[in-house]
Formats: sequence, structure tokens, C-alpha cells
Amino acid sequence: MNCRLRIALYQPDIAGNTGTILRFAACLGLGVDIIEPAGFPLSDKALKRAGMDYLEMAALTRHVDWHAFEERRKAGSHRLVLLSTKATTAYTDFTFAEGDILLFGRESAGVPDPVHQAADARLTIPMQGTARSINVALSVAMAAGEAIRQLG
Ligand SMILES: C[S@@+](CC[C@H](N)C(=O)[O-])C[C@H]1O[C@@H](n2cnc3c(N)ncnc32)[C@H](O)[C@@H]1O
Repeated sequence: MNCRLRIALYQPDIAGNTGTILRFAACLGLGVDIIEPAGFPLSDKALKRAGMDYLEMAALTRHVDWHAFEERRKAGSHRLVLLSTKATTAYTDFTFAEGDILLFGRESAGVPDPVHQAADARLTIPMQGTARSINVALSVAMAAGEAIRQLG
């Protein structure tokens, strides 16, 4: 867990989104943590199609479950910053720091309450009143983009 900024995906269930995020992270030098179980094998064709040859460049760490991820995170003293539709603080009103891990929920169900509570900060990307959520890969791009802008 030694990148300036990391993206963590909680039990992702759409391979194409994960491939897109791995490509994005590889291009920008961000680490990626996949908290398993995922809803697809990491050999999935859709993941490879979206991630292309960038998958080989990706700084990916797989964790067998949430507890294994938490052990590694706490050992490295990384802050956990959850992006959630249920949060009230806008991601643009938050001061990001080196070593932060930005955590994103699964496409079908977000994250369970204990994971929500474990976060050091909970941020939202404000949406129009009737909107439910933004595609997870796009929300990664928006939040990581703001964090990178702040960190320079
Ligand atoms: C498709 S959304 C999950 C929707 C799920 N039904 C829920 O209630 O959380 C997948 C993930 O993208 C991120 N996300 C999507 N829209 C967001 C928003 N407006 N603000 C913050 N995070 C968002 C969150 O991490 C979310 O868990």
C-alpha cells in the first residue's frame, strides 16, 4: 500500500467497471485494492477488454475479505475515505492527504453499515434531486481527480 493515493473497490460486481478503473489508476499512478469476493473472476473477458494492456501496469492488491483489507490499512495508518450517495459532505469540501484510500461500494448495493462506520470520512458527489447514483468508474474519476488536484 505504498502509492500516494489508492482506490479501494468493495466487492465489485461489474467486470467492465473494474477494468476501466484499473486502466484509469494505471494511467495516473494510483494503487488499487480489490476487496473480495468480487462478482466475477479477475480473468473475466469484460475486465480485460476494459482494462486492455493497462492491467499489466496496474498496482493492484487483492484482499480476500474486508478484515484482511482493514488489517493492512491500519498497519499502514492509511485514512479510509468512503464515497457514498448517503454521505452529506461534498467531496470538494474535503482536504485529501497523501496515503488516503478512497473506498467505493459495489454497483448493486454500495457498502454495508459496518464498512460505512469504519470510514474516517464519508463524502458524496452532489447530484440532482431525483438521481440515484453515478457509475462507479465515473465517481472514481471525479473523486480521485479532485484529490490529485489538491495534492498537486
Ligand atoms: C452504483 S453506486 C451504488 C449504488 C447503491 N445502490 C447504493 O445505494 O450505494 C456504486 C458506488 O459508486 C459510488 N458513487 C456513485 N454515485 C455516487 C455519488 N453521487 N457520491 C458518492 N459516491 C457515489 C459509491 O461508492 C457507490 O457505492
